Amino acid sequence: MVRGGLVGARWARDARVLPIAAGPVRLCPEDVATSMTAPELARAPALTQRLKQNLKQNLKRALGPRGVFIEGFLKHPVMVGSIIPSSRFTIARMLAPVRWDECRLFVEYGPGVGTFCRPVLDRLRRDGRLIVIDTNPLYIDYLSATISDSRFTAVLGSAADVEAIVAAQGHDHADYVLSGLPFSTLPEGVGPAIAAATHRVLRPGGAFLVYQFSARARDFMARHFRRIDTGFEARNILPCRLFWGWKDTVADA
Ligand SMILES: C[S@@+](CC[C@H](N)C(=O)[O-])C[C@H]1O[C@@H](n2cnc3c(N)ncnc32)[C@H](O)[C@@H]1O
Repeated sequence: MVRGGLVGARWARDARVLPIAAGPVRLCPEDVATSMTAPELARAPALTQRLKQNLKQNLKRALGPRGVFIEGFLKHPVMVGSIIPSSRFTIARMLAPVRWDECRLFVEYGPGVGTFCRPVLDRLRRDGRLIVIDTNPLYIDYLSATISDSRFTAVLGSAADVEAIVAAQGHDHADYVLSGLPFSTLPEGVGPAIAAATHRVLRPGGAFLVYQFSARARDFMARHFRRIDTGFEARNILPCRLFWGWKDTVADA
């Protein structure tokens, strides 16, 4: 039965291909099923699956990097912590205090789909390096496939292992470390371990740059960094807190 004036399973089949002049016509699933031949019915699950896949791919293509970010969030909501990447205002404020002429190694934790990567590469000296570390293979694969810059390396791993990762890439220390990690929702003990490892891996005078929706990260930073500059960026979804923890130089000590 077809609602809207047309009656019968044969009409239902025709209505799917003919222009409907008599107004909107909706097909009931039972009508479609009764109008299908046995081989068509047998192919239906595979067809539905293919349609779903096509729809997903088209949606991802239309959304671009945001689609990949959302997919990563849906798979690991607690680890990703936000469904919207950082705004350009947050990026500009966060990177403003960096002395790029002195920066040979910049490390980023939790790059996601690379919201900060391009702005960092744009500012980084030609012989500098950017190493990004993320626990989500979807993001690491996406970044490796889309950023082709010889200064860039994407590593699948945890920020807690930053010292081993930096050493494996041939460096003694990092000049700056940027974090977009959701410190409040990381598993117990991981936040403090990351703050401690970051302090060890930084050179004296280097800085740990952190943006977060809550002030939790500051608690972990304060155990290691005596000087922490703070800020707030309202033009971000959600508005976020900014921290810059400076590692003491020999003269500061
Ligand atoms: C809120 S997203 C940040 C996205 C991006 N940096 C931005 O500003 O739009 C947090 C990211 O941290 C990553 N992550 C969570 N725990 C991590 C860990 N222990 N080490 C490295 N990355 C981690 C997640 O996979 C996710 O990509």
